[in-house]
Amino acid sequence: MPGTCDNASHHGIRETTDMTLRLGLLGLTMLFSLAGHAQNLEKGKEINATCAGCHGEFGQGGSRGEYPRLAGLGAKYLESQLKAFRARTRVNIPMYPYTQERELPDEDIRDVAAYLASIELPTKWPVFKDSDDALTRLTMTERVMIIPRVPGNLANGEALYQKQCVTCHGKTGLGRGMFPMLAGQYTSYLKRQMEKYVKGERPHDEEGIGGLLNKLKEEDMQDILAYITTLQEQQ
Ligand code: HEC
Ligand code: HEC
Repeated sequence: MPGTCDNASHHGIRETTDMTLRLGLLGLTMLFSLAGHAQNLEKGKEINATCAGCHGEFGQGGSRGEYPRLAGLGAKYLESQLKAFRARTRVNIPMYPYTQERELPDEDIRDVAAYLASIELPTKWPVFKDSDDALTRLTMTERVMIIPRVPGNLANGEALYQKQCVTCHGKTGLGRGMFPMLAGQYTSYLKRQMEKYVKGERPHDEEGIGGLLNKLKEEDMQDILAYITTLQEQQ
């Protein structure tokens, strides 16, 4: 009949339109969040320009461990340390001004941490092609992260590490989540941190674990460090 309205089919159409709209919006949201993610890494790279002066362009660290390697450390761990520097629960005089809310808001901490975590540093010397120019060669070499072996009793280091450190720092020293990677980090930096933990200048997780390091003899620490330098090859 003309003029009567078939409610059922109208509803049907409206529902389909709603559905299409909703799916369309969902698609758009997904696209935006993907683009947002890419942008964050891009922004992280920009922020890293400030850090590069000390930690190197690729987060490779420098001055033989005065500046630690940051590339490939877990994002969660990097974030926690940046916040600890800001709050001065971990004292870092050179970095303190860079971590203030005004300089490095939480969002920037997330971006720069994500960016640094995404950088992979090769652990083998590159094989150059004849066509690689001097700059390419230099850049490829700069990224290479080979930690030289240090002397120590490897058997004792391995036994101690595998018994006391492995649950948090991992079998091959890669760490996870809030537990930092130790393999591939400068030995002098790790040693300095262990000394800080022992002196109580930096908290090593819960109190009990600081105690763990306090129980080690000085030779034991050296042996563990020596063992850690062998882990890179086992990964
Ligand atoms: C003026 C030099 C300097 C600048 C610039 C700098 N840092 Fe550092 N950073 C250091 C030093 C020195 C240490 C080691 C401190 C120590 O021995 O405890 C360090 C340590 C760190 C650590 C701890 C690493 C670990 O394994 O626990 C993180 C994370 C870090 N810096 C991130 C950054 C980021 C991100 C930026 C840029 C926003 C930055 N730093 C800028 C000097 C600097
Ligand atoms: C229960 C977990 C746990 C165990 C076991 C543990 N650690 Fe850690 N370790 C941590 C955490 C968490 C941190 C980061 C602390 C912070 O936030 O400052 C850390 C940090 C470190 C650092 C500093 C790394 C850096 O990049 O600054 C060194 C060095 C270290 N541990 C050595 C050891 C050694 C050696 C052992 C074994 C004797 C050990 N840890 C056992 C949890 C652990």
